[in-house]
Amino acid sequence: MQQPQFAKRFIFWSVLTVSSIYLLILVGGIVRATGSGMGCPDWPKCFGQWVPPTEISQLPADYKQVYLTQRVAKNQKLARTLASLGFRQVAGEIFAHPTQYVETDFNATKTWIEYLNRLLGALIGIFVFVNAVVALPYWRRDRPVLWLAIVGWLLTGVQGWLGSLVVSTNLLPIMVTIHMGLALFIVAILLYAVQRARWGRASGEAAIVHLAEANSTAPLETASAGAGLRWALWGVLLLTFAQIIMGTQVREEIDRIASAAAYGQRDTWVAALGSIFESHRTLAAIVVLANVVVGYRLWQLAIPRLRRLVMATWVVLALEMVAGITLAYWALPAFMQPIHLTLATLLFGTQFLTLLALWPKKGVGNVPAVAQPLPQAHSYYA
Ligand code: HEM
Repeated sequence: MQQPQFAKRFIFWSVLTVSSIYLLILVGGIVRATGSGMGCPDWPKCFGQWVPPTEISQLPADYKQVYLTQRVAKNQKLARTLASLGFRQVAGEIFAHPTQYVETDFNATKTWIEYLNRLLGALIGIFVFVNAVVALPYWRRDRPVLWLAIVGWLLTGVQGWLGSLVVSTNLLPIMVTIHMGLALFIVAILLYAVQRARWGRASGEAAIVHLAEANSTAPLETASAGAGLRWALWGVLLLTFAQIIMGTQVREEIDRIASAAAYGQRDTWVAALGSIFESHRTLAAIVVLANVVVGYRLWQLAIPRLRRLVMATWVVLALEMVAGITLAYWALPAFMQPIHLTLATLLFGTQFLTLLALWPKKGVGNVPAVAQPLPQAHSYYA
């Protein structure tokens, strides 16, 4: 099937945006592993400049006091707003969190790592906006695609604002976790939009090449298998999401331990972790088991795209396990931290794409979406 020009353009921008978000997650991990999160004490500028300083001599002597005062004032405003909206506990936490009263010494390398992170974030802001603009032709063809692109754009704005709060609260743990959850949600929205664009040619009906066109005996069996597996995949996706959120809790714990140890004795940090680490390790085993079982069932459907996605998920999961084990038993090597984080989000992405490949379509019933049967599919269904 030949895609129309506007669809090709939309798919291009969506894929570019999602890839850049993954790159940003990797760079964000590098920011953290190198301790550059507070490299720029203010937001959106860095030390009050669009191009940050390279030498401490470019800063006023009392720069620490200046930025500390600014940040505390911003946090107080935020805490007051949250308290007036009824979020008293979070407001209290923001007030009470001790690290917000600590100002970091200037370090040019850290400042520039954080600044590049922000530039990439700004670039994504542009990409996601262009993505919403090139989705306009979908107003008449498949409106949800346009809405998804617009919501993706707006949420990216919220994500930028949350990023500023992460900085102003000096990396308050709950903020870091919310930031992560929203990043995954944005990825899911954009992936769904791009998948709909791939499926659809006509308004809302999303006419596709599916099994019903290709093999008259296969769809019913595949449809019912697909419906059951769709639920199983939702379960696997939720497990992975829970595992990622739990991972961020492990990370928060590590940050506390590291700070208490003045960032020395790295080999003792993991041993000092509490039950959260054991839960993370146990849930990892459950995630692996669930992926093997559900992946095997999907593999048996003998649909090429599904097989590719299952294989990608297994590979990413295997690498993620190796990364996790390396972190836990080889004194938490810094280079492995951003890798573990990025693989976790990639895992979520491949699982979500697999779910989309089984998504039911309007007017197509429960038939898997992008199914193009292998030649041997006939023997499987025979
Ligand atoms: C399904 C597999 C797994 C997923 C999806 C996953 C996910 C995550 C995530 C998202 C983080 C937070 C990273 C960050 O915010 O920088 C994390 C941290 C961590 N995970 Fe996992 N993890 C998995 C398996 C494992 C395994 C098997 C181990 C070890 C036995 C492990 C050990 C750790 C450790 C030590 C941290 C803290 C790392 C740090 O502070 O940078 N993980 N995990």
